[in-house]
Amino acid sequence: MHFLNNLVNPESGERLTLLYYLLSFVSTMLVTYMAIAATGSSLSLYFNRKGLKKGDRIYRRFARNLIDVAMPGKGAVAALAGLPIVTIILIYAELLYNTNADVTNFITGSAILIIVGFMFLIAYRYSFRLEGFIESYKKLTPSQKAEIGDASIVDIDSMEVSAHQTRRRAGLFGTVLLWVGMWAFMGGSNLALNGQAWTKDAGMFAVLFSWTTIWSFIHFITAAVVIESAAILFFFYIWDGGLGASNDEAYSSFVKRFAMNAGLLFAIVQPLIILIDLTLVPSAARDGAVFGLAGLGLLIVFILVHFFFQMLKGRKIRLGSYAFIGVVVMVGAWMTAKGVSFSQSNRAHYQLMADNYDKMLSELPEVQTAKINGEDIYKQTCSACHRFDRRLVGPAYNMVLGSYEGKMDDLENFIMNPRQVLQGYPPMPKQGLNEAQVKAVAQYIMNVYQTEEKNGTATYTK
Ligand code: HEC
Repeated sequence: MHFLNNLVNPESGERLTLLYYLLSFVSTMLVTYMAIAATGSSLSLYFNRKGLKKGDRIYRRFARNLIDVAMPGKGAVAALAGLPIVTIILIYAELLYNTNADVTNFITGSAILIIVGFMFLIAYRYSFRLEGFIESYKKLTPSQKAEIGDASIVDIDSMEVSAHQTRRRAGLFGTVLLWVGMWAFMGGSNLALNGQAWTKDAGMFAVLFSWTTIWSFIHFITAAVVIESAAILFFFYIWDGGLGASNDEAYSSFVKRFAMNAGLLFAIVQPLIILIDLTLVPSAARDGAVFGLAGLGLLIVFILVHFFFQMLKGRKIRLGSYAFIGVVVMVGAWMTAKGVSFSQSNRAHYQLMADNYDKMLSELPEVQTAKINGEDIYKQTCSACHRFDRRLVGPAYNMVLGSYEGKMDDLENFIMNPRQVLQGYPPMPKQGLNEAQVKAVAQYIMNVYQTEEKNGTATYTK
């Protein structure tokens, strides 16, 4: 993405630090939401199929509710996935300014996969509504159907079959694209961690199939199940009054049991995953903060295990809100640790960029504020009316400056705001100079006058 190099500027040290924080924050948002979207759509697909096969109402309702939570609407998807990923591309472009890193290519590729995936999933979600419509149509009596129109126009059975097919395909494509997109995302962010890889042409497959990328992806999948479980409990039962799941006893207890068990199981394996993660941090990126954040992650995971366990025991669904906050903090710790590793492993580049920025700053004044020169101002402005040795429009400087010796403030004040002083002269017009220019020109004419006076050449004619 070399064209981005033209868009970004070297950054100051302070702004770079700010960018690392921003990167961690938007990555947390993206990874949390993508976990819900990818796991939710996978589970929805699975339960939809199972529900159709067995004709089970509970599975089919679960499939519908899962996709409703995973895809809250186009606007929400754009805000939760689109905005963060575009921000991440721009931040990497700034942070890796002038390196040959393929990081932005990877993340851009992942963004495209994810966007296309969401388009399929929009169709998938919509097909549930179509199904609802078809079902209510089928329930109508023949006379009601006749009232709506000629029933034979719509071959409702073939419509149903094609709706099911579209749904299966759209759901499958969409879900696979989301997962592959996140895999590429993990590849890109790992590439960013490994400074040595930037200079070489990394090669897409080498990055995607490297052990660190595969491991990060496994980390993502397992964490995603915990996140999705907490999200199910939170969005099905608590957020905004829930999805009405509680009104249906059989359905409700099925969903709770599923989410609590899945959450507990996958939370239990997280500590091991976090520990293996630590062994994979590049040596250049080892830093106290990385270990501290891993510690925080472990703590959160233990709390999550406790929550899921408590909920399973007593079905205290209220703990679902805390579990949801917990998973967000868990992702936050993970992403911040990645951000810190990233900043550590490219300290050299970071320093170089901050130096570049300082250099750029130090070169700026010459360009921007051309040096103020008293002689130039005299020549350009004052000499139209003044000479040192004779009267022009205004009096000879050699005549008037003697009274200003040791009173530079008065001289500057006069030049800034001329008043009528001398008999037989018109008033001097205001010259419209700024303070620095007035100081410079006053200094210049006074210097010339004093030198001439010392040399005895400060003569004038009236
Ligand atoms: C358009 C003509 C004009 C220009 C341009 C002009 N002056 Fe004057 N200047 C005058 C006139 C006329 C006077 C006499 C005014 C008076 O005594 O009331 C004067 C008077 C002065 C005096 C004498 C003040 C005193 O106390 O006797 C100084 C010093 C002076 N000008 C400095 C400058 C400087 C410095 C500049 C350039 C930044 C400048 N002038 C530009 C017309 C001009």
